[in-house]
Amino acid sequence: MHRGSGGSGEAGATWALLVAAGAGERLGIDRPKAFASLGGRPLLAESLDRLDRSPWVDAIVVAAPAGWEEPAILLAEELAATKVVSCVTGGATRADSVRGALEDVPDNALVVLVHDAARPLLDDAVVERVLAPLVEGFDGVVPALPLPDTVKRVDGGIVVETVERDGLVGAQTPQAFLAPVLRRALVGDLSEATDCASLVERAGGRVAVTEGDPRLVKVTTAADLALVETLLASP
Ligand code: C5P
Repeated sequence: MHRGSGGSGEAGATWALLVAAGAGERLGIDRPKAFASLGGRPLLAESLDRLDRSPWVDAIVVAAPAGWEEPAILLAEELAATKVVSCVTGGATRADSVRGALEDVPDNALVVLVHDAARPLLDDAVVERVLAPLVEGFDGVVPALPLPDTVKRVDGGIVVETVERDGLVGAQTPQAFLAPVLRRALVGDLSEATDCASLVERAGGRVAVTEGDPRLVKVTTAADLALVETLLASP
């Protein structure tokens, strides 16, 4: 289902897909994660507001949970988020939600940013950092941070291996892509994908890494939400 938002509908060079359709069961609340309360408003409001204000972003498509499209559109209207062009119903997986949102991006779009609504504290400096390498010939860019913990591969509760940590990073969003590259990468089986960059890598694309942001915490549990709430209050 594709729904208009009342946004300007103007196409531009850089489109942001804000994927917010996850159920967020581990949060243990009576509504989807995107509508959990953060700083007195729905969690989705934080990243939506920030993307809408970003000078790097021309237009936004939101992927909302089924049955929550109307509240998402109303939220965009309340925020006066004029760059929101449409709100689509999310799919069964994150990759399906991205694919659905991408259908609303016109063929002449140059760059697509994909961001998790579950990472509310989006700073414009990160948006700038992920866009820069695209003009140097890269197909995609991920913000990432070194892993602080020792990483182990486990099987059935037994450690199989301690993985060499050098060269390993944790990938965040927003991830930036040349629009045609992302379109091609989203064809076929998406079942293994936990991020968009992995699909672009699978298709042979060159993906650069740029410095992530420790404040881009992903909200999964109630403890994450409490942490983000604290970070939000201390800019
Ligand atoms: O579930 P997880 O937190 O890993 O999801 C990452 C992001 O992808 C979240 O912002 C979530 O709303 C989104 N998502 C989605 N559609 C799904 C599953 C997740 O838009 N089916």
